[in-house]
Formats: sequence, C-alpha cells, structure tokens
Amino acid sequence: MSEVALSLRGVSKRYAARPGEGDGEPQDLLRAVDLEVKRGEFVAVEGQSGSGKSTLLHLIGGLDRVYEGEITVLGHALRTAQEADLAALRNRSLGFVFQSFNLLPQLSALDNVLLPEAFGDVPDATRRAQEALARVGLAKKMHARPGHLSGGERQRVAIARALLTRPPLLLADEPTGNLDAATGAGVIELFRELHQSGMTLLVVTHEVRVSRAASRVLLLREGRLDAPQIDPLQTPGEGVK
Ligand SMILES: Nc1ncnc2c1ncn2[C@@H]1O[C@H](COP(=O)(O)OP(=O)(O)OP(=O)(O)O)[C@@H](O)[C@H]1O
Ligand SMILES: [Mg+2]
Repeated sequence: MSEVALSLRGVSKRYAARPGEGDGEPQDLLRAVDLEVKRGEFVAVEGQSGSGKSTLLHLIGGLDRVYEGEITVLGHALRTAQEADLAALRNRSLGFVFQSFNLLPQLSALDNVLLPEAFGDVPDATRRAQEALARVGLAKKMHARPGHLSGGERQRVAIARALLTRPPLLLADEPTGNLDAATGAGVIELFRELHQSGMTLLVVTHEVRVSRAASRVLLLREGRLDAPQIDPLQTPGEGVK
C-alpha cells in the first residue's frame, strides 16, 4: 500500500464569471496546486473566506469533477475513475464533514449518523453510531431531528456521521466553526486521537487551536497552497513539526 494518502498535481479550478461580477474574466480559484499528504498526516488548511477551501475539499472528495490536473486519493486517480468506483471510495474510505452539515431534516440524529450504512455494510452500525454520537457529546440528543438541534449540535452530528465507517481519510470543512470553546476542544481532542490511531486528516479551519493540533499547516491564498510564512509574534503550534 502506497504511503501517500492523497496527491494533487497541477490542479487548477476556475468558475465562469457571473454576470455583473468582475470584468467578465473567469475566476481562477486554484492555480496549479500541488499537494502530497502522506498516510497518517494531519494537515490543516487555512485561508480567507472565498479563497477556495471548500472547493478544494469537494475536488478531493470526488464531488466536483471539473478541474485541470491530476488528483489521486487512496490510490484512485479521480479523473479516470468510474462513477461507481468514486461512490465506493466515498462510501467506504472517505469521511466528509461538510461546511453546511448536509443532514436530512426528517431523520433523527442517530439515523443521520447511520446514513452511510445505506451505501454499504457497516459492521455493528447502530452501536458504532451511538458511540460516535456519545463521543461528540450528543448521547442525549440521539433521537432529536436536526430542526431541534443547535448549529453546533448539527455540526457534531455531521462529524459523527463522517466517522461511522471509520474511514482511513477524513476531510472536514471548518468542523469547529459553530462550536463553543469547550465543545470545540472536545472535537479537536477527538481529531488528535484519530490522528494518533493512524487516520489521515485534512481539515479546513480558521482556528489556531485546530492548526496547532495538526502535524502540518498550509495556507490557501491567491490560488496557491503553501506553508504559511512564520509569524515571529506567534509561538509555533505544539504539533507543528
Ligand atoms: N458553483 C459555483 N459557481 C461559481 N462560483 C462559485 C461556485 N462555488 C463557489 N464559487 C466561488 O468560488 C469562491 C470560493 O468558494 P469556496 O466555497 O471554495 O470558498 P471558501 O474558502 O470555502 O470560503 P469560506 O471560508 O467562506 O467557506 C467564492 O468566491 C465563491 O463565490
Ligand atoms: Mg468554505
């Protein structure tokens, strides 16, 4: 098994300009981005709002197939992969925490967490789902529907769901964005443990405390993904190697 979990080679992404926006030129969101993430790494991606972080995660998750360059995820070259292979990759090997959670409103928290089971056998799914919800502090809200949960609680349901299949690779889009300090700290601790247990994590974040837990931090700016310049006024994160 290759030790590379994820690689991007010369990946570019542009959206056509919308009427009345810019000067009518297409917007180059990603410009020949190269990235290699080794198995077991915990990489944090920072970047301003609108810099293309969610777009990047959607490309890596095989959810957006319109781009230039090459993306390989857990040994699958996304460009040439059949839709069925991509679906299998997403269902079995990738956990995806969406920025907007993507919960189904008519299902309870527990049934939302159990959704991946519909796409393939998950051993001991119900117990796992209950454990995952307990792990994010939602044991008591298992039977509530998303409409009766706060934004932070929905976010935690989305995290629990992404972990149901115990995927080797977790992609998470601002997973602590709606959480208070204590709950966010719990999620970061969970990510640390997942990292220590060998999971590969790629997490988009605005939060220093998430970046500190990561083994590597990258900054998406003007379409390029680079290591950020060290700010001499900031102490380096304890997890940064
Ligand atoms: N389907 C689309 N069509 C056209 N433009 C889009 C589309 N999706 C996103 N964009 C534009 O691409 C840019 C980057 O969007 P993206 O969601 O990747 O940013 P982001 O870094 O995740 O921002 P945030 O931190 O606010 O979540 C934005 O300017 C957005 O308007
Ligand atoms: Mg985003």
